[in-house]
Amino acid sequence: MKFKGQHILSTKQFDKKDLLSLFSEAKKMEKIFKKGSDLLSGKIMASLFFEASTRTRFSFEVAMLKLGGKVVSNFDMQLTSAIKKMETLEDTGKVVSQLVDVVVVRHPEVGAVAKIAEGSDVPVINAGEGALEHPTQGLLDLYTIWKEKGRIDGLTVGLVGDLMYSRVLHSDADLLKFFDVKFVLVSPSELQLPQEMKDGLRKAGRTYIETENLPSVVGEMDVLSCNRLQKERFSNPADCEKFRGSFRVNAALLKKAKKDMIILNPLPRIEELDTEVDKDPRAKYFEQVKNGVVVRMALLKKILIG
Ligand code: NCD
Repeated sequence: MKFKGQHILSTKQFDKKDLLSLFSEAKKMEKIFKKGSDLLSGKIMASLFFEASTRTRFSFEVAMLKLGGKVVSNFDMQLTSAIKKMETLEDTGKVVSQLVDVVVVRHPEVGAVAKIAEGSDVPVINAGEGALEHPTQGLLDLYTIWKEKGRIDGLTVGLVGDLMYSRVLHSDADLLKFFDVKFVLVSPSELQLPQEMKDGLRKAGRTYIETENLPSVVGEMDVLSCNRLQKERFSNPADCEKFRGSFRVNAALLKKAKKDMIILNPLPRIEELDTEVDKDPRAKYFEQVKNGVVVRMALLKKILIG
C-alpha cells in the first residue's frame, strides 16, 4: 500500500510487503532514536485519547518529538468540551485536522476511530479501539519478533491470555497470518479467540491449536505473546475474577520452554507475567517499549513524507 497520506485504521490494510518495508524503515530509525532528527520539523501531531493510556501515548509522542515534530494533546479527551458539548466524532476530526498534520486516536468504542477519520482532512492513526484492534501494537510486536528471531516465517507463536477481549492479541493474530506461522492459542475456553478471527487464520492457510493448558504446549513455542485479562471489557467485570491465575508465565513454566523462545507482553502486566521473569534473557517486553517508538517513527515518516 501507499503509506503517504493514508489513515491507519486497521491491520487489514496491510500485506506482508508493507510490513517488511515498515520494519526496514524502523530499523533505520534506531539510529535516529539515539540522535534525534529534524525530518518532521514543522509538522504537528494531535493525540486524542478517549481512553486511558501511558505507554502508547508516550510512545507516539516521543516518536514525533524524536523526528523533530511537535505534539498537541489533551490529558483526557473524555473531559473536553468536545464531549461535554456533545460534538460528533466526525466534527471533532474535521476541526482538529484543520490545525495539525496527523491525528492519533484511542477510543473505547469500536467504529469511533473511523468516524473521526471520516471527518478528518489529515491522516488518522488508530492507537487502540475497544476490544477489537490495536494495529500499531501488533506492528511493534511483529517488529520485535523479526528483529529478535531474524525472521517470522517458520515460527510457532503462542498467543496466551484473554483472547476474546485482548485487542493486542487480535492484532498480533491478524498480522502474523501474513507469515508462515503455526499458532498455539492458549486461553480459558470461555475466552477463546473470536470465531471470525480463527476463520481468518484458516483462510490465510494457517494452522492453529487451542488449549487451556499452557505448560503442555509452551515447549513448542518460538514466541510467547501474552496479555492480561481485560477486566474493563467484561460486561460484568466481576465475572473476570474466576479466570484469574488461569494462565501464568513464571520461572517454573519457562523451565519447559525453548532456550531461545522470546516472551512478549504489551504491558501493563498483572498476574499473567511474574516479575521473576524480567531477568530471564528470553524476556523482551522492555525492548518492545523501545521498538514501539521506532516503529511509530517509521509509520509517521511514511505517512507524512513517504
Ligand atoms: C494494551 C492496550 O491498551 O490494549 N496496552 C498497550 O497499548 N501497551 C494492553 C493492555 O492494556 O492490556
